[in-house]
Amino acid sequence: MSTQGANRVDNFFYPRYNRDMKESVKSIVLRALTDACGSCVSGGELASGAAVSRNAVWKAVKSLRVEGYDISARPNAGYVLKESPDILSPEGISAYLGDCPVNYNIIVKKETASTNTDAKRLAAEGAPEGTVIAAERQTAGRGRLGKSFYSPEKSGVYLSVIMRPEVSYSEAEYLTVIAALAVCDAIESVFGAKTGIKWVNDIFIGGKKCAGILTEAANDLESGRLEYAVIGIGVNLAVPKDGFPEEIRDIACGVCGSEIHGGRSLFTAELLKRFADYYAAFDIKSNVEKYREKSVIIGCPITVIKPDGGREATAEGIDDRCRLIVRYPDGEREALSSGEVRICRQ
Ligand code: BTN
Repeated sequence: MSTQGANRVDNFFYPRYNRDMKESVKSIVLRALTDACGSCVSGGELASGAAVSRNAVWKAVKSLRVEGYDISARPNAGYVLKESPDILSPEGISAYLGDCPVNYNIIVKKETASTNTDAKRLAAEGAPEGTVIAAERQTAGRGRLGKSFYSPEKSGVYLSVIMRPEVSYSEAEYLTVIAALAVCDAIESVFGAKTGIKWVNDIFIGGKKCAGILTEAANDLESGRLEYAVIGIGVNLAVPKDGFPEEIRDIACGVCGSEIHGGRSLFTAELLKRFADYYAAFDIKSNVEKYREKSVIIGCPITVIKPDGGREATAEGIDDRCRLIVRYPDGEREALSSGEVRICRQ
């Protein structure tokens, strides 16, 4: 499979980070300064850590400054990163990524219509597993079932990951399961907020949606196997500056208040790491069990949205294929593998 497609991307604002390549000097310098937590790190130390000249370190510092990092140079002492600003960049993400079982190749765009649309194009061109496209904002972010996903700048994380697991097309749903678990874990570990999952792909905090997942896949027609899957994840970290649009104001929430503690790069790295760990283990049974435990829907009265209208039901459980088992008032049971359900407020 050609990997050239991944290098044929135009107009990306930030340079890419690829753990296969030699890690960029910028990334090494940024990690060292971040780890130093506001203390001074000498140019010599940074140069030997990155195995480059002091001049190359200086160039990396200048470039990081252009991206917005507040790095001061102290004569005869070294460099200090004053505070960790909320900047989304491949270097910023990789600075927190550490060892990770998926070989991520991270691209950050300043603006795009939809990272899922970009990722699908790249995947069709042969981009390798682990290619990640993130964006500061999306102008036409897409949700499930033709809905839109509000994606303003500075308040959320919007990214799509290309994966190529050797499974059948129908098994791609499992990627949504582990993405949902990874989002919950990352929110809980970075921000300490308690999350729940509303089948099939909505992440809830205190009765409101803070994140959603849109998995799109392509089939290899000859083998019937999955060719690629694009897992799109959108997380509202802060409440947008002007609030959520009227139509979702009552149902959407941000994970934090107005400030994203630690920044979006830290959160993105945690999310990608968690996703990679679940993916590497590929332990379907225990992950579906974990998914079930996090479900906020089991036992609730719900409305199942059908093409011809809503049907009242009770959510009875989630089976091993992650289908939602519902029971209608007439006693009929149904296993839903996709679609939309609404929890009825009691
Ligand atoms: C949903 O809530 O129905 C799913 C929302 C998925 C949104 C993410 S944001 C990144 C990626 N790009 C998109 O256009 N959509 C997904």
